[in-house]
Order: sequence, then C-alpha cells, then structure tokens
Amino acid sequence: MTDQDILEPYLGGLGLEAWQYYPVVGSTNDWALTWARSGAPDWSLVLADTQTAGRGRMGREWVTEPGEALAMSLILRPSGQETAYFQRFTALAGLGLIHALVNLGLQGRIKWPNDILLGGKKVAGVLVEADWKGPIVEALVVGMGVNIGPAALPNSVELRYPATSIAGEAGIQLDRWAILADILTAMKHMRSFMTQDAFVSEWNAKLAFKGEFVMFRLPGEGLLTVKILGVTQKGALSIERSDGRRINVISGEILAEEDASHLS
Ligand code: BTN
Repeated sequence: MTDQDILEPYLGGLGLEAWQYYPVVGSTNDWALTWARSGAPDWSLVLADTQTAGRGRMGREWVTEPGEALAMSLILRPSGQETAYFQRFTALAGLGLIHALVNLGLQGRIKWPNDILLGGKKVAGVLVEADWKGPIVEALVVGMGVNIGPAALPNSVELRYPATSIAGEAGIQLDRWAILADILTAMKHMRSFMTQDAFVSEWNAKLAFKGEFVMFRLPGEGLLTVKILGVTQKGALSIERSDGRRINVISGEILAEEDASHLS
C-alpha cells in the first residue's frame, strides 16, 4: 500500500481540491508556494512526513522528524471579502488544531500570534506566507507543524519556548492522519465565518494568557511586563503596559518566564 492509498480514506471526504504527499521534502511551504504559482486551486494541500529545511517564523528552523509530526501547507485563494482579513488565516489554522484537540479531550490555546500551546507548552506553530502579484495576493500558504509524538521535539538547546507533543499530553498512541482530517474539517467550517465577529470571539476565547501578565518582547522597545487583553478585529494583540496605557501591537513575542529571566 502506498502512502497515497493510506491517506486517501482520511482525506477523501474533506473536499480538498487536490493534495500531494511527500515522504521527504525541503519545506512544505516552499513546495506549496511553487504549486500555488503554477495554478494550484483553492483548498489544495501539501503534506510531508519529513522536512529537511522546514521554516518557522522569523527565519527560524522548524524540525520535522519522520513519523512523529504533521507538516502541512494548505493553499488558499482568499475571496474578495477575505482579503481584508489576512491576519485571521494564522488563527484559522490554530483554531482548527484546537478543535481537533477537543476531540481528544485536550484543551489547546493560541499564544499570539502563531503558536498553539497544550498544557502551557508549544505543540504547534503556524507560518502563513503569500504569493504576491504586485499588490495583489494571489494565494496564501497556511503552513502548520504539529508535534504528534514525543520524538517530534527538537533538542532542548534549540527550543525557544517549552515544547510538548499531543501524544505526550494525551498519554496515548495517536493516529496523526485522523488528527489531520479533524484539523481540516474544523478549518473548513471556521473559514465559512472567518470574516464575521464570531470568528474573533472564538479566537479570543482560545487565547492564551488572556487577563494575565506576561513578559513581552516589543520590537523597538525591548522587554516589557504587560497584561494581555485580547485580540482585535484586525488580529492585533491588545496589551496593557505597566503604566496603564493600552496599545494594540502587530508584532512581538510572548516569552517563556525562564527566557525572560535570562534577558533584560
Ligand atoms: C513557528 O512556530 O515558527 C512556525 C512553524 C511552522 C512550521 C510549518 S511545518 C509545515 C510548514 N512548512 C514549513 O517549512 N513551515 C511550516
């Protein structure tokens, strides 16, 4: 049985326009961008078992070990209405995973902007990239890497944030393709109301550290202790500084407590 045959029962009923699976690939996002440029339709998927040049946010490396993870890149062609809400596509993937985790009895949270936490540790990351034609976005590639088994985790020296895997938290063996199917089912459903306020409500309901104080690295300002207030309609993070001023930020990073104690 080929990998294609194994995947077909999981992916067959999800309305995917097309999908490609690779045992080994550099980066599924790179592959998906190339495919998007050559005309892949909306809702096409690139999957890989192993990535040799997986990419994370801010030029970081993303490790994908064979048999231990999900490395997926979904090609979406935003509708006219959706183009006003690009920031929401990162949350679309994160919320898709969080819904799949609920089916396993687990409660995930989105650490703004693009990490998914389980038990307070990072279980997945999202990287959204665009294929531009001049000022127009022709396609978006929504890439997500999910740690399924404990061996998916990079060694502790490479970790930016404490990490975990779904199997590690669930304490059971998992079927990663069933989880993938659940993620895609939830993403498809959530996309149907992505441009509505209800989507942002859902994002806020699943936001990590809401109402809590965290160490936050704000570009141009360094490290601040801030209170997380929520996510805005435009996907910015609303925070309250220690002097009580409230601001909306579009970039920055919530740090792990132990990281923050090393930096100042
Ligand atoms: C991050 O946490 O910095 C984002 C990580 C995104 C990793 C995924 S794995 C599938 C897709 N292909 C890549 O090269 N990156 C994304």
